[in-house]
Amino acid sequence: MENLKLDIRKVFDFVSEEKIRNLKNAAEDANKALHEKTGKGNDFLGWVHLPTSITREHLEDIGKTARKIQSQVDLIVVIGIGGSYLGAKAVVEALSDTFIQLKEKQDSPLILFAGQNLGEDYMSELIKLLDHKRYAIVVISKSGTTTEPAIAFRILKNHLEKKVGESAAKDLIVAVTDKDKGALRMLAEQKGYKTYVIPDDVGGRYSILTPVGLVPLALGGFDIESLVQGAKDMETACGKDTQFENNLPAIYAATRNVLYQSGKKIEILANFDNKLHYLAEWWKQLFGESEGKQTLGIYPSSVDLTADLHSMGQYIQEGERLLFETVISVKKPQHELTIPGDPDNLDKLNYLAGKRIDYVNKMAEVGTMLAHVDGGVPNIKIELPEINAYYLGQLMYFFEKACGISGYLLGINPFDQPGVEAYTKNMFALLEKPGFEEASKQIKERL
Ligand code: PA5
Repeated sequence: MENLKLDIRKVFDFVSEEKIRNLKNAAEDANKALHEKTGKGNDFLGWVHLPTSITREHLEDIGKTARKIQSQVDLIVVIGIGGSYLGAKAVVEALSDTFIQLKEKQDSPLILFAGQNLGEDYMSELIKLLDHKRYAIVVISKSGTTTEPAIAFRILKNHLEKKVGESAAKDLIVAVTDKDKGALRMLAEQKGYKTYVIPDDVGGRYSILTPVGLVPLALGGFDIESLVQGAKDMETACGKDTQFENNLPAIYAATRNVLYQSGKKIEILANFDNKLHYLAEWWKQLFGESEGKQTLGIYPSSVDLTADLHSMGQYIQEGERLLFETVISVKKPQHELTIPGDPDNLDKLNYLAGKRIDYVNKMAEVGTMLAHVDGGVPNIKIELPEINAYYLGQLMYFFEKACGISGYLLGINPFDQPGVEAYTKNMFALLEKPGFEEASKQIKERL
């Protein structure tokens, strides 16, 4: 079996290999600190050994719940936001047929998401759709009190109860939450929902391999065993005593930190396969929420190529030189399609007749990489043998480990998110939530 590969050679025109190698000891220490729980945020390191600690019984239990519900519904509405949403969304989008929602028949229920925004139109349109569909709900919230998913769940629970009756609704709702705290836990126990636990020591953005990711994915018919296996293999490949030279997440972390120190403040995660669009959204949360603190941290951004070469390409090529690019290159697509010949050849494409579209895509990828490097944008390449559950497992664990190491190299705690509270405090004050009376008065004076 092939593995994910990392190629950093195209940063050496900008920062020396030696500078990256100089971080060997620091990166090895950071890796060890994650395993030995001796670094900052060490009560949130449950994700480090999570893949190898997932039991067969746990996966079977999730599978059993999935099979029971799958046979009764056409749709699964997954309610969650941030770390309780993006991991599952990333895997669903990467592994689904692009046009699955338009197909007449699906093998498994379709997964839709709610509670990831406060758009009244989104919710209204979802409700209209659900009026005519058989559906189940997976509600995910570690705290059990996050406003967006709580509002969505209140609305959808009422809708489902009205539609099928309270007793049937109870068997179509699965709650994924804290083992004993929070409003969702209380409600789930009161109503008798099937529940799964988000471990205390795993933060939202590191939770894809907890029931936060595994339950919705199993319900959608995705291969969670392979996802876990991929992550397990990556966990083993970058274990506690792995030398820097063999530790891909450590090399990636060191490289991006050296680039950051050299003034490259923005990392663009680029894909040449749009199925990875939400993988980049997940990655942005992982790195942005982990590193963006104490006025430090690389700003994570993303592009879908070649589409965005026709929009953001100009900036990347010639705008302010603050950027470096990390390309996820997929070696082998799932399908084969060749470009046909044309006797008229008015579009002058006959030189490509008989060639696969992926061949053109790969040449675009190499051409773009060289152009961007020539334009002053260092390039890191992560090669994925193909997009499947196994390699996504490898890739997601790779990024989680790299993020932990990278945060420690930066000197911050990569496992908290103190800044996320700021907007909710203002929102609660503006909404006149009980307990926020004084803040409410103060904020209104500022308007
Ligand atoms: O990474 C995080 O901690 C956040 O993105 C949370 O996952 C997000 O705010 C949702 O929180 P909760 O699961 O408590 O509803």
